[in-house]
Amino acid sequence: MAKIDRSSLAIIPGSNAFNLAKNIAEKLGAPLLDVYRKIFPDGEHYVRIDYGKLIVSPKYSVVVNTLYPKQNDAFIETLLLLNAAYLETSMKTVAIIPYIAYSRQDKLFLRGEPVSFEVILSCLRSAGADMLLTVDIHSPIALKRYFKGFSINILVSDLLVKASLKYLDNPVVLAPDKGALNRARYAALKLDLEFDYLIKHRDRVTGEVSLEPKELSVKDRDIVIVDDIISTGGTIALAAQKCLENGARKVVVAATHSLLIGNALEKIRNAGVEKLITTNSIPIEETDFIEVIDLSDIISSELQRVIHV
Ligand code: R5P
Repeated sequence: MAKIDRSSLAIIPGSNAFNLAKNIAEKLGAPLLDVYRKIFPDGEHYVRIDYGKLIVSPKYSVVVNTLYPKQNDAFIETLLLLNAAYLETSMKTVAIIPYIAYSRQDKLFLRGEPVSFEVILSCLRSAGADMLLTVDIHSPIALKRYFKGFSINILVSDLLVKASLKYLDNPVVLAPDKGALNRARYAALKLDLEFDYLIKHRDRVTGEVSLEPKELSVKDRDIVIVDDIISTGGTIALAAQKCLENGARKVVVAATHSLLIGNALEKIRNAGVEKLITTNSIPIEETDFIEVIDLSDIISSELQRVIHV
């Protein structure tokens, strides 16, 4: 990757994404700034970016953070970093947030609810973010609608599915619901594979998920289930179970953001999934069951494509 002019760009790490920020800084040859942070006795956050090691203010300040774990604290920290960066930057402030919390509440499902995702995006913008780069956002349309600056959603389902091919033979790329169909289609078309989806119902009040069988041609086939988020693991476990009940040979999961709440991992393994392929959009350790794709390459390339330094 071509290196950038060091004085043009500064990378600022948030607490949840230090390694990702460091890798991006290394790949671009940009300085990684130190951040002094503390929590006041009453629980309020304080941050100060050490711009002292730069002779001039950077044209672009790039704040890298991700909004899980501790999404509410991480969000406040990100807003404070963005504002501090904005006050110092001569041209544009960029937020790189691979996982954006609250993204699933992207419309009114029930009367009286907020559109939480709109609130999150408008706060990022008002804190100072001119540009927002994220990864496999739940609703790309809502991102464009609610972020009033320049936004990029990096698609990665093709990278995840490609990584699954070493475990599977000519798999069907399967979305666990219609909402994930674009992800499955994108990967399948890029890799010349077949794709399909399941019909999912979620009870908006209890949160309970059920899957109704669609015409699946999964018998004797390998399956890679593609989704954006694994939270409790319920959706993936049900989808995997459904595939295996219908005669699938093998199931691997390719999901971008692994929150893995509670016993999600156990649920997924017990459902018969052989491997989970995911990204480091949320800090996660590799194990014999989990393969992690590092996002720093694709994020660095995208950043370099959209900024001019
Ligand atoms: C929902 O529409 C998302 O794309 C995921 O399928 C969902 O958030 C997964 O949640 P859980 O793991 O709790 O079933």
